Amino acid sequence: MAARGEFSSRTAFVLAASGSAIGLGNIWGFPIKVASNGGGAFVFTYIILTFLLAYPILMAELVIGRYAKADTVRSVAAVSSSAFRPLAFMTGYWGMLTASLILSFYAIVAGWMIAHGVGAAAQIIGVSDSWLVSESITRSVLFSAVFYVLTIGIVANGVASGIEKWSTRLMPVLILLIVALIVYIAMQPGAAEGWKVYLQPDFSKVLEPGLVMDALSQAFFSLSLGVGTMMVYGSYISKTENLPKLGATVAGMDIGIAVLAGMLVIPAMYVAQHNGVVIYDEAGNLIESGRLIFNVLPSLFDTMGGAGSMVALVFFALMSIAALTSSISMLEVPVAYATDSRSMNRKKAAWVVGMAIFAFSVVIVLNASWLFDWVVRIATEFSEPLVGILFCIFVGWIWRRDQLLTELKQGSPHLERTLFWKIWPNYVRFVCPLIVVALLIRSFG
Ligand code: PFF
Repeated sequence: MAARGEFSSRTAFVLAASGSAIGLGNIWGFPIKVASNGGGAFVFTYIILTFLLAYPILMAELVIGRYAKADTVRSVAAVSSSAFRPLAFMTGYWGMLTASLILSFYAIVAGWMIAHGVGAAAQIIGVSDSWLVSESITRSVLFSAVFYVLTIGIVANGVASGIEKWSTRLMPVLILLIVALIVYIAMQPGAAEGWKVYLQPDFSKVLEPGLVMDALSQAFFSLSLGVGTMMVYGSYISKTENLPKLGATVAGMDIGIAVLAGMLVIPAMYVAQHNGVVIYDEAGNLIESGRLIFNVLPSLFDTMGGAGSMVALVFFALMSIAALTSSISMLEVPVAYATDSRSMNRKKAAWVVGMAIFAFSVVIVLNASWLFDWVVRIATEFSEPLVGILFCIFVGWIWRRDQLLTELKQGSPHLERTLFWKIWPNYVRFVCPLIVVALLIRSFG
């Protein structure tokens, strides 16, 4: 087995794992769910559910990974008794497949983001090219190829000089861009209406089952759970680090950026409405989310005159960066397997696996929208929760308790005095599987 990488510091891990968590789910998914679910009421429920329900599952993944210091297949097997080994292997492989499926559609969307960004840049220098923002197949293939090359290029360089280096560079840029855009949009006429919707919670909706389930599945996807990404990143954390604290920091960062994205996208929607762009259909429902990002916001940028192209460029750069720090974590799952379990050279593994997943993206693009929707559903609504529940079962029921608790205490000498210690071990056993069952019932329902 080749020597394994490790994050060089606490900050490096926090930025890389936050980079995985913070993605299109935060900047696109979250604000839209807020806008269609009672504004601040959704934000409130989402924050509570992330800490109460998603964070404990994140901890389950991190602790398995750090204990085993291996790819997901070997990690789950390492915490399993021999009777459950076949189930352990299946869980690991299934997670890997799910990570690859998510990457296959995520990269297509990320390609559109890059194309829109390039379109805005072209406009700034006086070239207007409608092909860049069209729905052409060649455009989708070409720009997702660009996105794959970036993703593969980073992962090929390994943990410290690839994933860590780029996550620590890109995350501060992402935060800067988002804050700059929030300030700019807040100064536009119409923005105040959006802020009102965002900040005034309609508390009568807080406990509505639809809202609670939306918040739960958003929290699950947003923390990159149920595919093994967090397990693999956990396997690169040093034994001297305090795991519960690191996990909480990542969950906090993920929530923080989602909340910031809401301050950007929701006021922007209302600025668009103020400028005459339609954001609600005749039935009073928010228009479909794809149109919102690729039609409404660009129309808004168009109404802003000269500054519009600059704002568009910054916005789509922000989206592309958020997508890239997430996609590298997806590709890392199969690449870690190829290097750890199959002793493949990392560069070769990254290119071979990355190109295979790209080939599947091309198949999706060629099969228009039905395959796209199908892959999204299979990966996020079915596989992620199922793999998630299997991870919880391994930690809660199959792994030897003394080993689990010893691993948890590594790097946290005073853990026994904390609330986390008193609650989490039973929580992960009883409550976490139930949460995921709820997610599944909803998907099947
Ligand atoms: N957490 C990412 C987002 O919110 O966009 C999506 C994601 C990343 C899902 C990595 C799964 C994954 F393995």
